[in-house]
Amino acid sequence: MQYPPIMKDFPALLHGGDYNPEQWRHMKDEIWPKDMALAKAAGINTLSVGIFSWAVLEPREGEYDFSFLDEIMDLMAANGLKAVLATPSGAKPQWMAEKYPEVLRVTADRRRELFGGRHNHCLTSPVYREKVRAINTALAERYKDHPALGLWHVSNEYGGECHCPLCQQRFREWLKERYGTIENLNRAWWNTFWSHEYPSFEAVESPSPIGERDNTSLLLNWRRFTTEQFVDFYEWETAPLKAITPDVPCTANLMGTYDGIDYFRLGKSLDVSSWDNYPRWTGDQRDARILMDTAFTHDLMRGVGGQKPFLMMESSPSAVNWQPINRLRRPGVLMLQSMQAIAHGSDSVQYFQFRKGRGSAEKYHGAVVDHVGTKETRVYREVAEVGRRLERLKALAGSSPESRVALIYDWENRWALEQAAFGHKNHQKYEETVRAHYRVLRGLARDVDVIDETCELTPYQVVCGPMTYLLRPGFAERVQAFVSGGGVYVGTYVSGWVDEDDLCFLGGWPGPLKEVFGLWDEETDALDETRHNHFGWRGKTYQVDDYAALVHTRGAEVLALYDEDFYRGDPVLTRHAYGKGLAYYIAARTVEDFLRDFYAALLKKQGIAPLIRDLPAGVDCTSRVGDHGKYLFVLNGNPHSVTVNLPGGVRAENGEPVCGLTELQAWEALIVRTNDQ
Ligand code: GLA
Ligand code: ZN
Repeated sequence: MQYPPIMKDFPALLHGGDYNPEQWRHMKDEIWPKDMALAKAAGINTLSVGIFSWAVLEPREGEYDFSFLDEIMDLMAANGLKAVLATPSGAKPQWMAEKYPEVLRVTADRRRELFGGRHNHCLTSPVYREKVRAINTALAERYKDHPALGLWHVSNEYGGECHCPLCQQRFREWLKERYGTIENLNRAWWNTFWSHEYPSFEAVESPSPIGERDNTSLLLNWRRFTTEQFVDFYEWETAPLKAITPDVPCTANLMGTYDGIDYFRLGKSLDVSSWDNYPRWTGDQRDARILMDTAFTHDLMRGVGGQKPFLMMESSPSAVNWQPINRLRRPGVLMLQSMQAIAHGSDSVQYFQFRKGRGSAEKYHGAVVDHVGTKETRVYREVAEVGRRLERLKALAGSSPESRVALIYDWENRWALEQAAFGHKNHQKYEETVRAHYRVLRGLARDVDVIDETCELTPYQVVCGPMTYLLRPGFAERVQAFVSGGGVYVGTYVSGWVDEDDLCFLGGWPGPLKEVFGLWDEETDALDETRHNHFGWRGKTYQVDDYAALVHTRGAEVLALYDEDFYRGDPVLTRHAYGKGLAYYIAARTVEDFLRDFYAALLKKQGIAPLIRDLPAGVDCTSRVGDHGKYLFVLNGNPHSVTVNLPGGVRAENGEPVCGLTELQAWEALIVRTNDQ
């Protein structure tokens, strides 16, 4: 499907990065013109500015000084560069913390923080909100007609939480809206347990290591509330931008599988989703796995943005500086990392950072321009090569994959499951499990959309929902409608245990999904690393790890049975014909071998063809389809060459026909155009 360009009238793949010219104000005549020339020569067409500039833009309360930004925006426009212009709320000026201590966050153990750091402001504070509103309004007014303005970068990496009295009050109001009366809340949270009933909403406190830390409904609702705080704050921040510059889209840069915010919820407010990608490349065989795991996060970030093209807002052009060992990128890995973003639907390759600062915490973090300040570096040359390739590939902008398979990853489910005390307490491996299903599906060369329990299932043919422990309102009904309408749904052990309040379903698991799976899941055994069960399926034996559910069929057909223990002979894999579709239940956690054989057979039966046949391990394969045709991406994460079997009739980037067996070098990213639409 073809989407319009993210930046109006700028039909290109964006190439750029975080740029902090204000740090060089004292040397601007020397540095800024050089930066423009270096950016252009590397094929950079956008720079993200103003991200942490508040103290320069408003040195004293209410006194704005836009001179640096005026000059830089003009320079960028003169050089044909677009600005990804940030609101400065990622870091506050000292005067604000000093004069209005309420803007400083309070930690879960109820201590007020001092000034310092970043991403640490109270989002409830009326003072903070008013200051953000004022400066955002001033920025929008000032640059609304500026030719460089292309996109709003709202704040930076929203995260964390605040437990101050203002936030407590807001939490109580939010709960009141959700539950109406304290009796409803007490019942929904099962507060008779340990005599924890609240007499009124005023008695509720956020979770704390020195207070309530065990009530799982409180923990879950606090996280929901924190997400709502960010959504509300984002709306607050963007209101003046939307009013003054309605044609300029807004984004907030996300952090992949960051635990603290339900990104599917926040994503609904973003015009375009964007994220900061920092894979821990090792330069050895482990890179193959890192590539597949990064593939998942790209697809997840596309999912939170509603499957539209997204932006890779940050990535490091070389080593980062915050890992225990910050290894240099092997030659070719930057190209692989960059093309992988494009392969999964990003319309940009952006870096942190354009130029290394001279001082403070990030002076050794990878950058396009190093302290030497010239083009003569390996990293710069590799960046320039990425720039040339993005220019050649610009017809890709706005295209997207057309996935027939979706995989569910749900933040609320993750929160509820990870805090639940049963079986493998504190180690439920939700994310690991979803990633395992993902690696297998992607390894079978199918495009995969990542969705959550609130998303529509009907655009897909096959939907996989591993460990859907918590069922969000309406989800079970959507699964039923999907399957009865002809869809194929795959569920697993530990599904359908609790409702949205974290209350267990009565009447047996998997709760309201019992009917569609045609079974009752009675008990779940937890196996430690010395214990395994096994089962045979289609002539092979597979191992069971960690979890084995004991199920009774109620209409489902049994496809495989446990081999051992007191539940030997009980079903471990079932299939239920429900309406026009099928619902599979995998009752135990299995090694990836089983998932591979199972999904390979299922996808084949469903007529969902692989993009490439016999894809080698450690190779990520995707497609993008748009008005300019269909592109196939084949990305080798292995530190050695592999041979891939390309379909017939494909053309290389230079238009030359390529087909049949093609060799890919270590970390090579191959992009071809196919004839089929
Ligand atoms: C994050 C931040 C950046 C920078 C990088 C370093 O993504 O948004 O400001 O600190 O990390 O990797
Ligand atoms: Zn607060």
